[in-house]
Amino acid sequence: MSDCFRKVAVEAALRAGAFLRSRFGERPRVSYKGSHTDLVTEMDRGAEAIILEALRSRFPDHRILAEESGAVPGRAPHRWIVDPLDGTTNYAHGLPIYGVSIALELDGALALGVVYDPSREECFVAERGRGATLNAAPLRVSSTAALGESLLGTSYPNDLLAAPRDNLAEHAALIRRCRGVRTLGSAVVGLAAVAAGRLDGYWEQRLGAWDIAAGALLIEEAGGTVTALRGGPLDLSTPSIAASNGAIHGAMLAAVTEVAER
Ligand code: IPD
Ligand code: CA
Ligand code: CA
Repeated sequence: MSDCFRKVAVEAALRAGAFLRSRFGERPRVSYKGSHTDLVTEMDRGAEAIILEALRSRFPDHRILAEESGAVPGRAPHRWIVDPLDGTTNYAHGLPIYGVSIALELDGALALGVVYDPSREECFVAERGRGATLNAAPLRVSSTAALGESLLGTSYPNDLLAAPRDNLAEHAALIRRCRGVRTLGSAVVGLAAVAAGRLDGYWEQRLGAWDIAAGALLIEEAGGTVTALRGGPLDLSTPSIAASNGAIHGAMLAAVTEVAER
């Protein structure tokens, strides 16, 4: 894959992240996408405009799927998947757990993932077959061998009240089997934490492709395992995710499957 894709994606993520960080704490104007728990702000749109301008000006033929603008058609086999601000609710409340996520698919397979955490000025990058880095240092998932010794992350869907599955049963099952579960409010930051070995696993359901595309590649390239929540390959068109260091994956899936079968 061309180094130019990586450079453009990293620069766009850093630029959008710098914009978000510069306005952090201002309490942005909020509007709602359907339910009172599904927020969008002027900052989501501003960060997305920065990223789309960078991608379109360099790669006018590429397709784009961006959370706020939807699908942008193109002729090339490349598709960029963009979440300009993941953790909008945290951001709107002044809680500094949020991130920017940009992934590139080539012929339907994830090829590049970039996650930027503006609060910690951490830039995570993964390229298929070339490993994952955090601020240029190689990344590796944790070596925690047992679910009982693990620290896990999750979050809840924004439209929780409309959801037939709300994640509470899965949370209850897993929290009793590990050292703790952290509900972060940013799937992007949670998945990057698994890639960096700070969390041993992360699960969530009813996400968008933009929430997980870059993070999934980060984890795989850092030596971890990513599947759909009930096992089987990750499907970006109906994404639920179980992500881990690999060693605890089977035990995580077993706990979730037990809940599903009740
Ligand atoms: C949300 C966050 C949150 C997750 C939601 C997502 P947003 O993304 O990733 O952790 O629970 O399902 O929609 O709306 O802040 O970009
Ligand atoms: Ca998101
Ligand atoms: Ca978002």
